[in-house]
Amino acid sequence: MVKMRRHRWWLALAALAVLALAAFLFMGRPALEPQTAPPRFDATLVARGANLSRLGMCAACHTVDPARPFAGGLALKTPFGTVYSTNITPDAQTGIGAWSEAAFTRAMREGVARDGRLLYPAFPYNHYTKLAQDDVRALYAYFMTRPALAAPARENRMHFPFNFRPLVAFWNLLYLDESPWQGDPQQSPQWNRGAYVANTLAHCTACHTPRTALGGPDLKRQLDGGDAEDWYAPALNANSPSPLPWTREHLAAYLRTGIAPEHAVAGGPMQDVVVNLAQADARDVEAIATYIHSFLKQAPARTTPARQAGSLPAPAENDPDLARMRLGYDTYMQACASCHDLGRGASSGAALQLHKAVALYDPDPRSLVHIIRDGIEPPEGETGRWMPGFATVLNDAQLTALAAYLRRYGARGQPWERLDDAVKKAREQ
Ligand code: HEC
Ligand code: HEC
Ligand code: HEC
Repeated sequence: MVKMRRHRWWLALAALAVLALAAFLFMGRPALEPQTAPPRFDATLVARGANLSRLGMCAACHTVDPARPFAGGLALKTPFGTVYSTNITPDAQTGIGAWSEAAFTRAMREGVARDGRLLYPAFPYNHYTKLAQDDVRALYAYFMTRPALAAPARENRMHFPFNFRPLVAFWNLLYLDESPWQGDPQQSPQWNRGAYVANTLAHCTACHTPRTALGGPDLKRQLDGGDAEDWYAPALNANSPSPLPWTREHLAAYLRTGIAPEHAVAGGPMQDVVVNLAQADARDVEAIATYIHSFLKQAPARTTPARQAGSLPAPAENDPDLARMRLGYDTYMQACASCHDLGRGASSGAALQLHKAVALYDPDPRSLVHIIRDGIEPPEGETGRWMPGFATVLNDAQLTALAAYLRRYGARGQPWERLDDAVKKAREQ
């Protein structure tokens, strides 16, 4: 056993040495000349860039304080440490004011900053790389015409060895495909527009596709379900967990408004997506819906437990986990039933019956645990549906029992493994 461990250490050290050597070889991307006088831009180009920036959700990561758009500073937690988004306003000292179009293009396509630093893929340049040059130019025009704000970059907190930026060169070798975007001539123009927007700007696959141990997309499992900020991002293909099949129209409504009949509302990181898509050109959002629906419609029809009215059932007397199921049921009746028993529309506070909520059907309980703890709040400055959070009302035993009960008696699903872990982790965050 001891021998085995030593052996591993040796291997790990050797691998690191090889990595460091090769990284050294890949280092040294040149700095590009600073630009002193930014060019003038045509207003239609700027307007087009504004739409692309919404489709690309640049604000979701680069705006923290709505009064200071694009000044950066958002902490993005990754398994490799915390990266902060940067200031992309045209401030010459702390933003991208000194960046030429060539420098901006290199950042968007190759993930290299003007000064030659390799950027971390928390910035989704591996998606933006496939943008048409006209679109990159329009984005550049839009950002160079925003108000310049002074905001120095915050220091990242990456774990060793990932604090060594040149290592990103390996990631790029594995996951950065700079070949131009290819449409599918067999499909309609609308499908093709949707495919382009969804894969380049809207990077739906970044969250909805599982990642490898190195944090890259698992390309063999496109849209097969992934995660974001400790939420589960459901599969959008034949493996969709949704209890109700998605129609194209409901999908388009969900993407624009965050709610569709008989489907759960968009929660967690999906809210930012909706906030941005709500302001984007509606034709582009329709196109995304057409494209994504071509995969979602492959999901087999499911038989949702048909429970028109009334409450979720009490646990069966012969349930092997009866004590916990009873605690879960009691918690549901006390904390949830008043709003969720009757279904939306019954009264102003009434909400979806929970056997229709996708979070109960997810392969893991993370999204459900977050919804129960944090509730549902409309995004800042927006109106929308609201549910109180129960983080301080329910203890861990009640929360765990409630989730286990909803899984079994709401979704009729197999018990979730690691439910206790998910509850513990959510509390510690
Ligand atoms: C998922 C979050 C996220 C989204 C969405 C995002 N960015 Fe970023 N961006 C980042 C992070 C994080 C960094 C800093 C990376 C680093 O320091 O290595 C960054 C860096 C950049 C940089 C380099 C700036 C510098 O100071 O070096 C540019 C340019 C940029 N982003 C432009 C954009 C544009 C344009 C969009 C929208 C099309 C966008 N970003 C969307 C997270 C994001
Ligand atoms: C005061 C009313 C209220 C209470 C109490 C409440 N909810 Fe909600 N809940 C809502 C509203 C409103 C929504 C958002 C949208 C909707 O379904 O109409 C929501 C959304 C949800 C969702 C996402 C799916 C959906 O309906 O969009 C889940 C899951 C959920 N609640 C679970 C619970 C659980 C579990 C409890 C008990 C711990 C609970 N809720 C208590 C009002 C409530
Ligand atoms: C930042 C990560 C992220 C991005 C980017 C993202 N999503 Fe999501 N998405 C999520 C998460 C997390 C959920 C689960 C939300 C919940 O449970 O309330 C979700 C939920 C959904 C759902 C509901 C699934 C169901 O069966 O109920 C759909 C549909 C969806 N996303 C489509 C998209 C599309 C299309 C795009 C690209 C335009 C996109 N998402 C981009 C994270 C993301």
